[in-house]
Amino acid sequence: MPLTPTPLSDLLGVEIAGVDCRVPPSAAVKAEILEALYTHQVIVFRDQTLSEDELIAFSEAFGELEMHVNQQDGGYARPNFHTVTNLDKDGNILPPPEPGKEYNGTSAWHSDKSYMPYPSMATFLHGIEVTKEGGETLFASLTHAYAALDDEAKARLDGLKCVHHWAQSMRNSKSRPATEEEERLAPPVTHPLIRTHPGNGRKSLYIGYHASHIEGMDEDEGRAELFRLLDFATQDRFVYAHKWRVGDLVVWDNPSLVHKSAPYKKYEERRHLHRTVVRGGATF
Ligand code: OGA
Ligand code: MN
Repeated sequence: MPLTPTPLSDLLGVEIAGVDCRVPPSAAVKAEILEALYTHQVIVFRDQTLSEDELIAFSEAFGELEMHVNQQDGGYARPNFHTVTNLDKDGNILPPPEPGKEYNGTSAWHSDKSYMPYPSMATFLHGIEVTKEGGETLFASLTHAYAALDDEAKARLDGLKCVHHWAQSMRNSKSRPATEEEERLAPPVTHPLIRTHPGNGRKSLYIGYHASHIEGMDEDEGRAELFRLLDFATQDRFVYAHKWRVGDLVVWDNPSLVHKSAPYKKYEERRHLHRTVVRGGATF
């Protein structure tokens, strides 16, 4: 029976019922999921009870899983499996970091791993413990933002290339400095500023906090332009806020979106999510 996605907002996001994500999808179901993902950009599967291995197996059906550049800040669990959490290994809420040790990357608008030569195609995030107040994941559609640019802006941006760099992302988000290991794992890379989606040919801006500057332009000027574009693209009219329920498996299309977590009481409320990331191909 074909899947019937239900819209989560007028803009983007659908809920898909009737899929048990403990079982890797058949070829037919996988094709329907990809079609929904490329069309609606965010998919939510509700009430999923998944072990780490089951999440890995389900997401691996869509491609090779990524390792994690940031192996600090609580996020590193296994090479292909990460956590987004405010808990330590014993399950206690982490205390505030020392000055200069902060990591704010998740709460700044970004597209996952755009600092890699082959950035992520999709991220799978599974809600284990979720917050009552705040802590939504906010998604801003770069496809809708691109479509809303005027013709003059589209022509001006067409053909430009953007440098993405983990170390600059850490500066952009006022986080601790990148480590030498992180610098080694993620040297600067370039991607088109206007990206064509590999799955459906739609154009979008390809920006976010991992974007450092515009190739061939003064660095500060390029960075200022990128932040202006990001402000434009993340206006409320382009944003869907996902309010988490325990058991939600949220899958998103990285080429079409920037996302971030909304603030919450991170020293009071527990927030723990399991995560896998599927690698994409070359950008064009
Ligand atoms: C991520 C991410 C946002 C959130 O997992 O890539 O950015 O709301 N998460 O936790
Ligand atoms: Mn992310």
